[in-house]
Amino acid sequence: MNIFKTVAIFILISVTPQTIAHDQGDTIEQAINYRQSAFRMIAWHFKPMGAMVKEKIDWNLTHFQDHASAVAALARLPINGFIPESDFGDTHAKSIIWEEPDDFAEKMQAFVEQAGDLQEIAQNGDRDEISQQFIQTARTCKSCHKKYREKN
Ligand code: HEC
Repeated sequence: MNIFKTVAIFILISVTPQTIAHDQGDTIEQAINYRQSAFRMIAWHFKPMGAMVKEKIDWNLTHFQDHASAVAALARLPINGFIPESDFGDTHAKSIIWEEPDDFAEKMQAFVEQAGDLQEIAQNGDRDEISQQFIQTARTCKSCHKKYREKN
């Protein structure tokens, strides 16, 4: 075997697996960060709507409409962060997500649709209807968390 071949094989063996493992680790960490950030943004807009519905803060239709629009747009994001093998690491996502991806995706889609309806209904301004639809949307968060999110 000539020296170049030996060196080439040595580099391949010694460097490649580590490099790949490192890159994968980075990507997984970024994916976890991405979805957690998306959920935090969603919660940032969702909470004040809940406070209005529960009459903990004053009703403000314009604010409600803005928050509802933000949630409707953000709702589409978190699914992108649930990439394969990202069930380990600094995450509260349960491994069962990757065992039942269709059911998980359906639950995410249910949330996307309810959030879209909330944005639409918020435009008509009827407080009772808006509150009802807010509760429907909140149920989609809870039903997913119950099955797929580890309690803190
Ligand atoms: C289809 C499933 C699903 C839906 C729908 C969903 N979540 Fe989550 N949520 C998760 C999972 C899984 C995690 C854990 C993510 C992780 O730690 O990697 C999470 C994490 C979070 C977190 C913690 C983020 C952090 O700081 O780490 C918040 C806040 C949150 N969700 C709020 C909401 C709200 C509010 C809604 C509805 C308006 C919602 N989620 C809808 C599955 C869902």
